[in-house]
Amino acid sequence: MFYHKKQLQYFTPPDRPDPVYAKKLQELIGGPMGEMTVMMQYLFQGWNCRGPAKYKDMLLDIGTEEIGHVEMLATMMAHLLDKAPIKMQEDGAKDPVVGAVMGGTNPRDVIMAAAMSPKHTIVSGGGGMPEDSVGVPWNGRYIIASGNLLADFRSNLHAESQGLLQAVRLYEMTDDAGVKDHLSYMIARDTMHQNQWLAAIEDLQSEGFEEMVVPKIAYEYGKKEAAYQFWNNSEGEESSEGRWAKGTSMDGKGEFEYVANPQPLGPVPTPPQPDPRLHGTPSSPAMQKTSDAAPNIVDGISQAVEGVGETIKRTIIGG
Ligand SMILES: [Fe+2]
Repeated sequence: MFYHKKQLQYFTPPDRPDPVYAKKLQELIGGPMGEMTVMMQYLFQGWNCRGPAKYKDMLLDIGTEEIGHVEMLATMMAHLLDKAPIKMQEDGAKDPVVGAVMGGTNPRDVIMAAAMSPKHTIVSGGGGMPEDSVGVPWNGRYIIASGNLLADFRSNLHAESQGLLQAVRLYEMTDDAGVKDHLSYMIARDTMHQNQWLAAIEDLQSEGFEEMVVPKIAYEYGKKEAAYQFWNNSEGEESSEGRWAKGTSMDGKGEFEYVANPQPLGPVPTPPQPDPRLHGTPSSPAMQKTSDAAPNIVDGISQAVEGVGETIKRTIIGG
């Protein structure tokens, strides 16, 4: 069950409406790294969690907090879009040519109107929308919920890192004291959340669930001789100067090796020639069969289906 509190987690109204900034702020709501993404990501990870109760509870704590962050930004959007779009439409209406098209009479109004999202007036009536700053709708494919907590917690650290980067850029794009104060709180929460995922990763490993490489079965399946080699696959050897190129590997199970001049381990590829029924280009014209010689692909498929049907019948009936 979810229970909604009427108060916002934190809120400072903007000093003045700003529909152009509102369009930019959409990125933090419905962009790939926005609040809707972390909200759905943490909630699905929590709902799907079969691990110890502390992880499930923590995921649902933070997922629910993120619902509140979407709410905080949606509320901010309503203030940023307050009256401004309508005023611009009114101003625009005074000019018979420019006004009708752009919604403004002086150059500043024209630029402002062009920079606004028309959907904030036409579609949402002055409210935030579940989409990014250029109107791309939020998409469930942005989220990760794999069932493996270490893989997921690393995705969460990534999401919080990219999200905070974008929040900081948006903080620097405005001089509105109200917006800055509001974002200052959200930036602090993202700071906690990066710390939280780093702590969760450490906690999970110290409990013995995972090692450095996830999933740990990779140590059994993977070819050990290739597991700690760095391949220098581009000109220059500056990459040899990094930590990844020397010393004990991060999982402590190997030594990093810098392969300065890597050589292929496999042969030149010789893929099978195309089935003539698919009319692909073979390696020589002589191998291209005429349509007379090649059976019709539809007939071929129906023959194959009939064959499968016969096999099933024989298997079930024993005929
Ligand atoms: Fe958040």
